[in-house]
Parts: sequence; structure tokens; C-alpha cells
Amino acid sequence: MELVQEAQRFQFTRLSSPSDTDDGSDVAAGLAAAPKTLPCKYFYDAVGSQLFERICDTPEYYPTRTEHGILTRHAADIAALTGPCELVEFGSGSAAKTRILLDAYARKADEVHFVPIDVSESILRASSRELVERYDGLSIRGFSGTYEQALAALHPAPAPARMFVFLGSTIGNFSGSERAAFMARTRDAMAVGEYFLLGIDRRKDPAIIDAAYNDGEGLTARFNLNLLSHLNRRFHGDFELANFAHRAIYDTRRHQIEMYLDSLVDQQVTLLDLDLSVGLEEGEAVRTEISKKFDPGELTAEFAGHGLEHAATWSDDKEWFSLLLFRLGAQQGGNGGAAR
Ligand code: AVJ
Repeated sequence: MELVQEAQRFQFTRLSSPSDTDDGSDVAAGLAAAPKTLPCKYFYDAVGSQLFERICDTPEYYPTRTEHGILTRHAADIAALTGPCELVEFGSGSAAKTRILLDAYARKADEVHFVPIDVSESILRASSRELVERYDGLSIRGFSGTYEQALAALHPAPAPARMFVFLGSTIGNFSGSERAAFMARTRDAMAVGEYFLLGIDRRKDPAIIDAAYNDGEGLTARFNLNLLSHLNRRFHGDFELANFAHRAIYDTRRHQIEMYLDSLVDQQVTLLDLDLSVGLEEGEAVRTEISKKFDPGELTAEFAGHGLEHAATWSDDKEWFSLLLFRLGAQQGGNGGAAR
């Protein structure tokens, strides 16, 4: 852990860096599994984060702009419901959508505290620098690292309250058990009365979902393949990108997009730093991401099991995407049930 003071009102804690805490055991485990998988967090090196920003601007990728629209319409309602609070954001990225929330909260209080958490240090630095310049009363104490690392390192909230923000339907990248573990950890970091704002991509015509992960410009394909470049750099690997093809399919039964890199040839890949050599057969698929699509009612019931009470839902007119607001109730703890 390393505290970096970037500017007057921006500091961040570096929780992981290419060389230390992330030892790649998750990569080794995924490549040893059958079928093979690779962790989707490796999409987000500097190049991958930029590619994702460009995906968001494609006509096919509706989630970002739909969520943006809901936030624009309802940020004031959200702020009115919660009152002034510190914002803790998972996977803040370029913070374009966060700006809408910050605008709303800056109107309610002279001082706003923002705690961004992102695996990409370069994106965290760039977006935070911009934000402190833009908002006079804003102070940022970010974390670069994984959500788990950041949740464990979070400081107690300054008064009066706090809202955890998880936008973009990134929660859809978790399996059911990963989601349960993440929610349990988040709940443990929350005090009674604190809020959780969640953006979810909803179930809809599969053709619309399919197109969003198979954009015509091929940016999603590049984004998917870039994971291999990242691994090559990070772990001294020799993945040949030309030997893999992007594939994304929507599983209508599991309500999830599945992204794969298909091996185009029989090949052997080595990751020197991991002391690892793996064989891939022609046609063999490596799963790089799942992106679940949700039923708000099901999720609300699931969150109630974590002690999170549903407070409000905001959606776009087509109900393609929703923002759900939850509040930690007194019953099931979180910080030993300390009320504020
Ligand atoms: C940033 C995780 C929400 O799952 O839709 C975009 C990532 N993957 N295109 C998603 C992604 C392929 C995105 N999230």
C-alpha cells in the first residue's frame, strides 16, 4: 500500500501494481480450469480502458448512454432522497457519469468527498485530476486496486452519510456466488442508513444485447483481444493475438452475455513470470467475461437477504436499464449495527 499525493485535493492509495500484489494466481487458475477462463479485470490496462470508452460511443452499445440518460434525468431525485453524502464509487473509470452525480451533490453541499476505486491507475489519475479542477469543493481520496482490496482498506465515512455507487452494470460480470461475496463484503463496509446505488442492464430482446457485444466497428473484438496483450506485458507471455478470435453470445437461459477468445490453431502459450505453459487446441474457447442481464425484482429480493432495503428504482422509457437505490437497514448489521 502506498499513499500518493497528486494535488491539493487529490490523493490516492495504490493497492496493487503490476509488479507486486497481483501475482497472477487468478490467471494460472483460469488457464488450468476446464473450460479455460481468464479474469475480465485484465481488460482494463490503459489501452483497454480507452477501448472501452470508445465502445461506449458505438451505436450498438446502449448501456452507457441509457444509464447516462437516467442519471441526467434523476440525479437531483437521488440526491434529494439521500441528502448530502460522501460518494464511494466502484470502477469509476473516466467518471463521466459520476460527474452528473457530483453536480447534483455539489448543489446540496459546499464540500463533496469522492472515493473512486479503479483497477486502472492511469484512468484514476486522469479523471481525478480533471474532477478536482472542475469542482471547487471536491476532495478525492481514491484507491487503485481491486474492489476487494479497496473495501478492506476503506476508512470510516466522514459525516453525514455515504453512498456506495456501482454503475454500468459491472455487477453483471460476477457469477452468482461472486456477487453474493461482493455484496457481503460491501455490506460489512457499510454503516446502517448508508446507501448503495446500483446500475443494472435489464433483460430484453436478445438481438439488441447481442449487437452491443458485436459492434460493427470491431472495437469489442479489439477490447477482448487486448486482454492477451496485457497478460503478455504483465507476465512475460507470448500470446499471439492473430491466433485468437473474438466471440460473444447471449445465453437466453442464463440471461448472460458470454465473451470468448477462440483459439484458431493448436498452440502452446507460455507465461514466463507464472512459470506456466498451456496447450490450446484449434477451436478451443477461453471465456473472458460474463455480463449478466437482470430482473430488478429478483435482484431486490436477493439484496434484501443482505439487509439492503430497496429505496427506489429509476429506469429509461424502454426499461432497458435501471438504477436501483438501496439503504442498509438496522436488522442485519454492517459495522455491528452502528447507527448514525
Ligand atoms: C463495463 C463490465 C459493464 O459487461 O457490458 C463491454 C464491459 N464487455 N463490452 C459490460 C464490456 C464488452 C461492460 N462492463
